[in-house]
Amino acid sequence: MSAIHLLRKLSRRPPSRLHRNLLSSTFSMDLPPDLARTTLIRPFSNRPTIFNNTHRLIPSCFRQLNLLPNWVSEKKKSISVSLREFSISVVETNTSDKTFERVVGLNPNPLVIERIHNGEETIGESVSGGEIIGNKIEKSEETLVREESEAEKEAWRILEDAVVRYCGSPVGTVAANDPGDKLPLNYDQVFIRDFVPSALAFLLKGEGEIVRNFLLHTLQLQSWEKTVDCYSPGQGLMPASFKVRTVALDENTTEEVLDPDFGESAIGRVAPVDSGLWWIILLRAYGKLTGDFSLQERIDVQTGIKLIMNLCLADGFDMFPTLLVTDGSCMIDRRMGIHGHPLEIQSLFYSALRCSREMLSVNDSSNNLVRAINNRLSALSFHIREYYWVDIRKINEIYRYKTEEYSTDATNKFNIYPEQIPPWLMDWIPEQGGYLLGNLQPAHMDFRFFTLGNFWSVVSSLSTPKQNEAILNLIEAKWDDIIGNMPLKICYPALEYDDWRIITGSDPKNTPWSYHNSGSWPTLLWQFTLACMKMGRPELAEKALALAEKRLMADRWPEYYDTRSGKFIGKQSRLYQTWTVAGFLTSKLLLANPEMASKLFWEEDYELLDICVCGLSKSGRKKCSRVAAKTQILVR
Ligand code: GLC
Repeated sequence: MSAIHLLRKLSRRPPSRLHRNLLSSTFSMDLPPDLARTTLIRPFSNRPTIFNNTHRLIPSCFRQLNLLPNWVSEKKKSISVSLREFSISVVETNTSDKTFERVVGLNPNPLVIERIHNGEETIGESVSGGEIIGNKIEKSEETLVREESEAEKEAWRILEDAVVRYCGSPVGTVAANDPGDKLPLNYDQVFIRDFVPSALAFLLKGEGEIVRNFLLHTLQLQSWEKTVDCYSPGQGLMPASFKVRTVALDENTTEEVLDPDFGESAIGRVAPVDSGLWWIILLRAYGKLTGDFSLQERIDVQTGIKLIMNLCLADGFDMFPTLLVTDGSCMIDRRMGIHGHPLEIQSLFYSALRCSREMLSVNDSSNNLVRAINNRLSALSFHIREYYWVDIRKINEIYRYKTEEYSTDATNKFNIYPEQIPPWLMDWIPEQGGYLLGNLQPAHMDFRFFTLGNFWSVVSSLSTPKQNEAILNLIEAKWDDIIGNMPLKICYPALEYDDWRIITGSDPKNTPWSYHNSGSWPTLLWQFTLACMKMGRPELAEKALALAEKRLMADRWPEYYDTRSGKFIGKQSRLYQTWTVAGFLTSKLLLANPEMASKLFWEEDYELLDICVCGLSKSGRKKCSRVAAKTQILVR
């Protein structure tokens, strides 16, 4: 295999497969003059990389390497690449005698973050190891000390107080710990989705135990016999939340048990579709951030991944590769018109598919599943990129759509009537930027901007690199609407008047510009931070974080804020909401540790773009709709 071929392959493959396939391979190739003094190449990072002492932003070394044909002719330097334990050594051969190395991918010298205590409280954070800049190896000697703000110190105290123990071991964090709350409902439970930012904060701080316990205990809950009015939902379903209860065994002895809620007690009996997807995403993050891959290799854990994937990939009546769900099956867990194919579920589904493909051991018993995962990934990304994307050009196209087209190659495939374009959108859509629609069904486009779905599409590369940039451009252009006084609006704009009455069912908790109906949720900061870091724009996240930091502690860490600009603490907002605290801490830690952040997002997978299983070629009576698609998505 040629060096170029191998590197191209490398850029598309997750490290776990790399490890198996390329262990110990060695080859050499030419290096362009401007990379002659390259000392730092990172395949999975977006950080500024030093080339000839000038800073240039590259998303990954392999994106650079994709430019190989242009450089090869220049034949000035040579680079020898050896792949061992996912590492690449870059060797300068003819400018000086000095040999230098940079290990990329899985860092053999991982970043260690330790919190510094002065007896009672944490006063700072020390970061050591990992970083090599310059043309020599500098191992673990560098130590940076970052002073924690008052808000961070308080946040850590609250997060640690929120920890739930089961048989003496930490297993999660409660949703909220508001001492003034007389009616906590289920906020005293550990929610799967709420625990994700807590888990990341702990992992980024170097504490893996709570996350490992959480993953293993929730895995056991997955196989519980659960019924809702004598009906059992599919095997593999993960609960929305669980609680540790103490039950009496006899007069003198008690026992702790985990009591899950699969939706059978939840308000509205909503299905926790996102729980299993978050569980898979967290499992991968645990491996990436701790280096402990033994957890995901365990047989019970592999079975857990398979059960979730089988449930998601089961055949049904669906016509599209998107996952069909009922209303309120994700973070927005009340009726909000997000039944069908809401973006949030699709972006989590896509990431969970990518994580599973990375983590599943390939053998005879998993071959079919892995094939199904690959096919679904490819079809899903095409569908979302092609049909969910809106920008000024696309809106103009919809505005002039012909309707009632009966044919396989219709332009207006979903029979969208142009009258559906809401008046607010015509004024709101900026010249630069765009976003993915909230939902798409026959004759229906939900044009609301949903924040989590859009950010997670950026993070997982569900959207194209160009679309990712455009999503952040939109946030910048619409800063006052999406960020305002408190980051970040859960969706934009609010449903008002008849829309509110009909779509929410007159929900008094979801009145316009409140709660799920365009309230502002600080927890979404961590997802925004990750998206900004992936796109090399951390300054946007820093700006939003600074806004939040000014108010969160004084406001006692509310769950959400109300009004158009996020000015007031939410009408029914819980205080000391754990994922508000954890989202804030995780954002801080991600920004301080870009190397770690880069392990949590995905680059474009070029191999997926080539997969098409429909068997219809360009010629012939019928055409493959993907090949025929006019806009065939702007990949780069
Ligand atoms: C609310 C939110 C949900 C969250 C739960 C616990 O129900 O809508 O997303 O998981 O509170 O915080």
